[in-house]
Amino acid sequence: MAGRVQGKKAFITGGAQGLGEAIARMFARDGASVTVSDLNISKARDVAESINASGGKAFAYEHDVTDAARWEAVLQEAAADMGGLNILVNNAGIASAGSVETETLDGWKRVMDIDLDSVFLGCRFAMPVIRESGIPGSIVNISSIAGLIAAHNSAAYNAAKAGVWMLSKSVALHGARMTPQIRCNSVHPVFIDTPILDVFKKQIGEQAVHDKLSRQVPMGRIGEPDDVAYMVLYLASDEAKFVTGAEFKVDGGISAM
Ligand SMILES: NC(=O)c1ccc[n+]([C@@H]2O[C@H](COP(=O)([O-])OP(=O)(O)OC[C@H]3O[C@@H](n4cnc5c(N)ncnc54)[C@H](O)[C@@H]3O)[C@@H](O)[C@H]2O)c1
Repeated sequence: MAGRVQGKKAFITGGAQGLGEAIARMFARDGASVTVSDLNISKARDVAESINASGGKAFAYEHDVTDAARWEAVLQEAAADMGGLNILVNNAGIASAGSVETETLDGWKRVMDIDLDSVFLGCRFAMPVIRESGIPGSIVNISSIAGLIAAHNSAAYNAAKAGVWMLSKSVALHGARMTPQIRCNSVHPVFIDTPILDVFKKQIGEQAVHDKLSRQVPMGRIGEPDDVAYMVLYLASDEAKFVTGAEFKVDGGISAM
């Protein structure tokens, strides 16, 4: 049976662990060739090797998403490896805590650089490569529920993720005017159990983190990486061929309150 992204070629940033790894593995199981890019090349290679060992097709690249020149080169190299490019998942990102008074200007700029500017760079440099491949494309930007709902101690992260949300709509409207068309959507997860929570777990313990975060979610738990990966898989696939410029919450109901 053909997979849901059979024959597609996908580039996933921050694919060495967490959500990016789950997305890369799910895409590969559903028939896509995947390029796993990350700052952490050793873990990215482990993910790619394990996908290849289980019958998939994966490549790994060292890639800092804040580096504009590297973006251009790595997309060309990945497209050459995979025989084209038609999916980009801008997933790499960092968490950040700080209120408008405790956040520093340097901290603010770092979060903007990694969580927002990188998404602009990815969209900007992937569009011509996708167009050259000659088939419709899909860009999926991983924002956060924090891009739609604010917290008192999340000034930079809220602002960066809200930027990803609106940038995705502008990219979608631009991509809709192209031939072939390129869709773009944003995904907004609530707390998901990935290594991004490790700092917090070291501070108060794993169970305490689960309990504290789960209490905030109407469904009473935090998410699993595949809860998000299934949404990204849908948006990347042709099942979503009329879906663009939209935001998709994977949030256990938190934004319904
Ligand atoms: N896990 C959550 O609770 C959650 C919730 C909402 C949104 N998100 C978003 O999902 C995305 C993935 O988060 P995660 O939970 O998998 O995090 P994670 O920390 O487990 O993984 C992030 C990956 O991105 C890589 N990375 C970080 N900076 C990079 C850079 N400059 N260049 C290239 N790679 C870089 C890291 O090496 C790591 O492999 C992030 O954008 C995050 O903001 C996560």
